[in-house]
Order: sequence, then C-alpha cells, then structure tokens
Amino acid sequence: MNTATFILNAAEIREGQDVAATDTWKITEVPCSAAMETWSIAAGLVIQQTGKFHINGYDLNPKVLQSATQPYEMTKAELGLAFLNWGLPRECVDLFDAIDSKHIQPRRELREKVTFAPLDASTQIPPKADVVITNNLFGNLYPDASDQVGPIVRNLAASLEDNGVFTANDAWHRDETLAEIKRAGLRPVRSKNLRPTDSRYPELFQKQPPHRLLSFLHGRRGTQ
Ligand SMILES: C[S@@+](CC[C@H](N)C(=O)[O-])C[C@H]1O[C@@H](n2cnc3c(N)ncnc32)[C@H](O)[C@@H]1O
Repeated sequence: MNTATFILNAAEIREGQDVAATDTWKITEVPCSAAMETWSIAAGLVIQQTGKFHINGYDLNPKVLQSATQPYEMTKAELGLAFLNWGLPRECVDLFDAIDSKHIQPRRELREKVTFAPLDASTQIPPKADVVITNNLFGNLYPDASDQVGPIVRNLAASLEDNGVFTANDAWHRDETLAEIKRAGLRPVRSKNLRPTDSRYPELFQKQPPHRLLSFLHGRRGTQ
C-alpha cells in the first residue's frame, strides 16, 4: 500500500480499528528520512478530517532527521503538482507556507501533529502505535543487509497495538519479506473497498486475528 492509498482510505481504516475521532490515532512512520512523506500523510489526514492523530517519524540517520524540520526548497506550485501526481487532494498544499520565493514549510497546524526521533528499527522497538508505515525500506536491504529484515519486522510488529495495522509499499516485492511479516504474526487483509492509487499492492497487514475482521476490508460492513 503506498502513502496515497493509505491516506485516501485512512478514515475507514481508523473506523475499522474502533479508534474514536476524539482519541489520538497513533501513527509511526519508519523510516521517515527527510519527512516529505510524513508531512504529506499529516496534510492528507487533516484535509480529509480523519480525526485527531499524531505521527512519530523515526529514522536511523540523525542527519536526515535534521532536514525533516527545515524548510524545503520547493515552491507551493511544485508541491501542489506533486500532490496531484500522487493522487492526493490539491488542498493539502494550503497547509504549507511559502517562506520566500524558493522555500516552503509545513504550517504549525501540521508541525504540532508530528514528532521526529532517531531509531534503529533493527535493534529498537518504537513506542506503541495503531498504524506503522514502512515505505521504501525492505527493498533497499536486499541483498547486503537482508539479515535485518526479520528483526525490523519483529520490532515493528511488537510496537503495534492489538488490531494495529502495518503497511509497507515494498512488502510484496520479495517472498522473504512476506514470510517475515507473516512469521511476526501479521496477517494480510485484502480489501475490496479501497480507493486505490496503487492497485498492485493495496494490502494492509493486521496484528493478530481480531474478534471480527475489519469489516470494511471485506465489503461486509454492518453484516457481522
Ligand atoms: C529510501 S529512504 C525511505 C524514506 C521514506 N519512507 C520514503 O519513502 O520516502 C530509506 C531510509 O531508511 C533509513 N534506514 C535504514 N535502515 C534503517 C533502520 N534499521 N532503522 C531506521 N531507519 C533506517 C535510512 O536512514 C534512510 O533514510
């Protein structure tokens, strides 16, 4: 599941987890790198009025975390085009300020919903979360650092609340990654109702079987 697919379906994913709009939906993004993805998720959730949330962005590299809170060299027009290209509402751009003719930064409204910290996911378990997003990590670990895939998956699975969901855009690219995800007790949950921007790998993984499956994911809302 890519980031845009997650954002477009966030309200239903949250509803399926029974996280009330007034509760803080705890989202972990690891790795967040320079955080353009993190800010995009925050902007998408605000524009779609998905409810109260907080995103913790983690990365191994403290240098990229420094740039995560610095202005981006980009115009608002360029950012708007990027959002359109990703399939996100163009209004997301309204949550960024132009600080001069060449730089933008996320508005305070976004900044207070996002926290960054260093973390090595191969050796550390991040704080508990309802959602863990791990994009563009596993693919980069093969072949030289493939022994990290298992520990990373286990640490991230351990950080999930019951009913927590895990998404990784490159989870399905290798059988070895999928096997580690399943071994860690995360089950793929296929959707019939997702609004796709990436229809190839729209799946989520869910921590342990809940009493009832996420009904929206099976197109049987209200029948269980
Ligand atoms: C290609 S970036 C992905 C960033 C972001 N998710 C995206 O899709 O734009 C890969 C990042 O993984 C980070 N990384 C690699 N191993 C890691 C680990 N064990 N724990 C946390 N971050 C890690 C690197 O520092 C790098 O910033």
